[in-house]
Amino acid sequence: MAERILVTSALPYANGAIHLGHVVEYVQTDIYVRFLRSCGQDVVYFCADDTHGTPIELNASKLGIPPEQFVARFHDEHQRDFRDFDVRFDYFHSTNSPENRQYAELIYGRLKDAGDIDRRDVEQAYCEKDKRFLPDRFIRGTCPNCKAADQYGDACEKCGKTYNPTDLIDAHCALCRTPPVRRNSEHLFFRLSRHADFLQEVLKRPGFIHPGLATQLQGFFEKGLSDWDISRDGPYFGFAIPGETDKFFYVWLDAPIGYIATTEKWAKETGRAKDALEYWAKDAPTRIVHFIGKDIVYFHALFWPAVLKVAGFHIPNEIKVHGHLTVNGEKMSKTRGTMVPARDYLEQLDPSYLRYFYAANLGAGVEDLDLSLKDFRLRVNGELVNNVGNLANRALSMLAGPLEKKLAPGRQEGAGRTLVEQALARVPEVREAFEKLEYRAAIKIITDIASTANAFLQTQAPWALVKKDAEAARADLSDAADVAYLLGALLAPVTPRVSERLFAQLNAPPLTFQALATAKYPLLDRTRPLGTPEPLLPRLEEDRVNAIIKAPPELPVADSTTPGSGGKDKKKEKKPVEAKTPEAQPAVPTTQASAGAGAGTGTAEAGPAADIEYADFAKVVLKAGRIVAAEKVKGADKLLKLDVDLGEGTPRTIVSGIAEAYTAEAVAGRRVVVVANLKPRKLKGIESRGMLLTAGSGGKDLSLLDPGDVAPGSDVK
Ligand code: 2FM
Ligand code: ZN
Repeated sequence: MAERILVTSALPYANGAIHLGHVVEYVQTDIYVRFLRSCGQDVVYFCADDTHGTPIELNASKLGIPPEQFVARFHDEHQRDFRDFDVRFDYFHSTNSPENRQYAELIYGRLKDAGDIDRRDVEQAYCEKDKRFLPDRFIRGTCPNCKAADQYGDACEKCGKTYNPTDLIDAHCALCRTPPVRRNSEHLFFRLSRHADFLQEVLKRPGFIHPGLATQLQGFFEKGLSDWDISRDGPYFGFAIPGETDKFFYVWLDAPIGYIATTEKWAKETGRAKDALEYWAKDAPTRIVHFIGKDIVYFHALFWPAVLKVAGFHIPNEIKVHGHLTVNGEKMSKTRGTMVPARDYLEQLDPSYLRYFYAANLGAGVEDLDLSLKDFRLRVNGELVNNVGNLANRALSMLAGPLEKKLAPGRQEGAGRTLVEQALARVPEVREAFEKLEYRAAIKIITDIASTANAFLQTQAPWALVKKDAEAARADLSDAADVAYLLGALLAPVTPRVSERLFAQLNAPPLTFQALATAKYPLLDRTRPLGTPEPLLPRLEEDRVNAIIKAPPELPVADSTTPGSGGKDKKKEKKPVEAKTPEAQPAVPTTQASAGAGAGTGTAEAGPAADIEYADFAKVVLKAGRIVAAEKVKGADKLLKLDVDLGEGTPRTIVSGIAEAYTAEAVAGRRVVVVANLKPRKLKGIESRGMLLTAGSGGKDLSLLDPGDVAPGSDVK
C-alpha cells in the first residue's frame, strides 16, 4: 500500500486571536501539504483548538461564562482566519471533544497498565484566598538574581534567569496579590525517565528532527530525564482523570492527543478512514509529520513519543521546527501593536503577499523570521508583482490583444523552446527545495526562471516584432506563456489563489508537480484559446501595508520607527531551544494578573529622567479615587493613613507621605489620582496598597493631583 501522510500544525490555544506569528507555522505547513498533494501524495492535514488549562479557565471565569462557551467563540473565529489565509485543513477540531476524552482516557489507561504512572506528593504554591494551586506563571515577585520587580514564578523576563517560585522575593498570587502558602497535593507522574534509551534512539532516527535540535535535546539526558507531572488539581478546565477525585489531565497531556482525536472525527465525518487507528496504530503504513515552533520541542520530541510508545500508537516520523516571527526586527509586542491579528492583515491585504513573503524567507532551520514591513513591500512588489506578474501580463495581454488569444504551435528549436526547456529542467531542484522545507531556495529558483523569461521578452521585443512578423511574435509570446504556466504550477503551494487566476487566464487546467515530472515542451495545449488577461496582483501600497499595524488604543502613534517605541535595546539572547514552561499559555490580561501596590509618598528622588518605552509607562495603572477617610499615623509626622475609594467596592488603605502639607481633615473627601498597581508595602506596620500622585518638591510644598469630577475607579491616562 502506498504510504499515507498525516500532517499537523500545533494546536492554537482557544484563548485569543490568531496573529501573524501563528500564521508563519500554518502557512509553512499548508505549503508543504499543498506541495505533497501536487506531487500526487495521499496526505491529510489536521489541526484543532487547544482548549484546556488554567489561563482559559480563569479568563472564562473573569467574563462570567463557562469555559466551554469561552473556547467556542474562538473556534469559529480561528477557522475563518485560517480559511482566509488559504490554510486548508482537512479537519479543524477541538481538544474539548468526546473523541479527545476517549483517546486521553484510553492512553492514560495504557500508561497506567504499563506501570508508567506514579503517585507522588508535590508541594506547591497555594493561594488561600483564591483556593487554588498556583502554576508558576501565576506567581509574581522580584527576581532573586537581578531584582527586577513583577517577574513570573519560573523565569525573569529581564535577566533570563530561571528559578523556583520559592526563590522569588515578595512572592504573591498574580490574581489577588496575596502571598501564597506551600501546600501538599498528590500528583500523577508519567515515568518518562524509564524511556530515556528509547527516546535517544528516536532522536537519532533520520529525519526525525533537525540534527542541531537533537544535539540540544541531549542535554536533557545528560542531566537525567525527569518524570512528568500529568495531573492538576481543581479548579481546572480539562478532562477529569478516571478513578481520581478533583484531578484533571494537565493540558499538555491531552493537547497532542488532539491530533489523534481530530483524525478520528475526520474519519467518522468523511468516511475516508474507518477510524484514527488507520493512521495512528503502531504499525500503520503512515508517515506522521508535526510542524511546531521551537518553544514546544520538548513536549513533542520527548513526552509525546514516549507516551505514544507506551500506549501502543504510531511514533511521529518527523518533527519540523521553525523559529519565531519578529516584526521590524523586534519581538512582537501587543503594546506596540506588532502582534498583528490575522484579521487586521486580512482587512487590508490579499493573503498571497504574506504567504509569498514568508516562503521567500523560510528555510529548514529554526532561525527567526523577520517581517520588516519595508522589506515585505519591496520584495513582494519586486518579485511577485513586477517579475512573475509582469511576465504573465506582458505575454498574455499581447496574445489576447493584437493576436486574438491564439497560441502558436510548439517550435522544433529556437530560443523560446530553449527557454521553456531550461525552465523545466529546474523543476527537480524546486521540488527538492520544497521537500526539504527550503522554501526560500525554491522561491529563488522560481524568480530566476521568471527573470530569465522576462529577459527573453526584452530581447525578442515582441511588441515591435508583431508589426513586422506577427507569427514570430506569437511564437515568442506563447513560449513566455508556457513559462508563466510553469510558474503557476511552481508557485501554487505558496500562492494558490494567484496560480488559480493565472490558470484561468491561460484557460489551462491546474498544472501539478506530478504532471511536471513527465511534462515536455510545449506545456500549454496550444490549440486552446486563451482566457482574459488581468493583472495578477496589484502592487503593495505603503499605506495599506502600514495599516496592518493598528495603533493600540492608548497609543498615539504605533509606528515602530517612532523614537522610544522600538529600539535597539532588549533583544534577548536567543536560547537554542526556547522551551515553553509547562504552564505557559497566553497569560491572563495584565490588568487582572498584575500585582500589587506599594505605599509611597510620591516624592521619590527624581534623577535625570531616562527615556522609557511607552510599554513601560503603560504598565502603570492610574485611577481616579476619592479619599473617604483619613487619619494621622502614630509615630510618623509625615504620614497619613487614608481610605481611598477606587470604585472597587471596598476602599483601599493607602499610607501617604503628605502629612506636612495636608491635615487629615483637609484631605477627607478630596479627589485624587492613584497608582493602583504598585506592590503592597508595609509602612509603620500598615499595609499600603497604592500611591497618591502629587506635584511639588516635597514636605510642605506638595499638591495633590485632582482628576476632576469623574467616578472613582475611572482610568487616568
Ligand atoms: O504552544 C501552544 O500554543 C500549544 N497550544 C500547542 C499545542 S500543540 C499540541 F501538542 F497540541
Ligand atoms: Zn490569589
